[in-house]
Amino acid sequence: MLSSLPGRLSCWQHRDKYPYRKKMNLLNTKLLPAGEAAYQLAAELLRSGELVGIPTETVYGLAANALDPQAVLKIFAAKDRPADNPLIVHIWHIDQMDELCDPPELAYKLADAFWPGPLTMTLPRKPVVHDCVTASLPTVGIRMPSHPAAASIIRESGCPLAAPSGNRSGSPSPTIAAHMFDDMNGRIPLIIDGGTCDVGLESTVIMVNEDSVRILRPGGITVEQLQEFCDVEVDDGVYKKLEPGQKAASPGMLYKHYAPKAEVTIIAGTDEQYRAFLEEKKAEGVFAMAFEEELSSLPCPGVSFGRKEDPASQAHRLFSALRECDELDAKTVYAHSPEQTGIGLAIYNRLLRAAAFRVITL
Ligand code: TXA
Ligand code: MG
Repeated sequence: MLSSLPGRLSCWQHRDKYPYRKKMNLLNTKLLPAGEAAYQLAAELLRSGELVGIPTETVYGLAANALDPQAVLKIFAAKDRPADNPLIVHIWHIDQMDELCDPPELAYKLADAFWPGPLTMTLPRKPVVHDCVTASLPTVGIRMPSHPAAASIIRESGCPLAAPSGNRSGSPSPTIAAHMFDDMNGRIPLIIDGGTCDVGLESTVIMVNEDSVRILRPGGITVEQLQEFCDVEVDDGVYKKLEPGQKAASPGMLYKHYAPKAEVTIIAGTDEQYRAFLEEKKAEGVFAMAFEEELSSLPCPGVSFGRKEDPASQAHRLFSALRECDELDAKTVYAHSPEQTGIGLAIYNRLLRAAAFRVITL
C-alpha cells in the first residue's frame, strides 16, 4: 500500500534552530474519514517513519513515531517549528507511561482521574526518549487522548506518538480537519478526519512534583479540577509576557502563537463599554470578536466566539473565529474579554498570545 503513496520528505539534519528551511519535497496530502481502514493506513505510515494528521479531543495533532528521531525531526520541518520547542508524546495505555518516564506517585493519581483526556504531564524522561522530542529538557510531556481515532491509531501503530498541534507554527491550532489541511497540504501524506474537536483548545500542561503541580499551559482540565487532588500553582508565563532572557518553564511560552494576520487587541469592559469603544473605532478592516448575543447590535462586522455565559462554547469557537478573521481579511480585531475562571483561563491565555499581550481595559 505504501508504494502507492507519494514520495517521502527529504531527510535533513538537526543542526540549527530552523533546519527545515533547507529542503522539502511537496507531497499529495490525502484526507480520509476516520475508520478502521484509515487507522490501518495511518499506523503503517507512522511505523515507516512518516507523519500523519490525527484528530484528538483538544485539537488536531501532527503525529510521528516518538521513538524514531528521523520521523520526529520531520514534524519540525512540516510545521516550521523551532527545534527548541519540545513535543508531547501521546499514549493509549498507562503502561506506556512507565516505558517513557519515571513518574512520581501523584502522576498516577492524576492519570487515574483525568486520562484519557486533555491533560499533559511533564515527567522525568527515560533515555529511550530522544533529545529531539524534549528539546533536551530532562522531562517529557505525556498525554493519553480520549478521541477514539487517536487511541486506535496509537494502539495500531504500536508506538507512542509525538504530536504537536497540527498547524504551521504561529497559527491557530486546527479544530477541524480542513484547517489542518489548509496548513499541511503538500507537507504530509495523510490526515484523518475525525470531525470537530470536542474541547477546541489544547491540553492543560502541568509540571508534576511530589505533592503539587504547576500549570505551564491552562487547558481543558481546569485549576479547580486539579485542586481537588493537590496544591496547584499557575506559572507566571500563563498571564505575562516573559522578559527577554527570562527562562520559560515551558518553551512554547516564548513563541508568538495562535495569531491571525490581523492585529488583535483584547477589550475588557461591560457590553455597553465594548459597543461604545467599537463605535469610536469602526473603519474599513476593523472587526469585532464578540459573544453571539452581542453580534446583532455591534456597530462593525463581527465574528462569534461562543456564547457569553458558556465558556465551553467559547473554547470550541476560539481558533475557528481567529481563522475567520483571516478569511474576512480583517486588519484590526477587537476581542471582547472572556472570564478567566474554569476553562476561561485557557481561553484568555490563548487570546492573550493571539493579541501579543495587547489588552485595553475600559
Ligand atoms: O492538546 C494538545 O496538547 C495538543 C494535541 C495534539 O495533543 N498538542 C499540543 O502540542 O498542543 P504543542 O506542541 O502545540 O504544544 C505543547 C506545549 C508547548 O508549549 C511545549 O513547549 C510544551 O507543551 N511542552 C512540551 N513538552 C514539555 C516539557 N517537557 N516541559 C515543558 N513544556 C513542554
Ligand atoms: Mg501548538
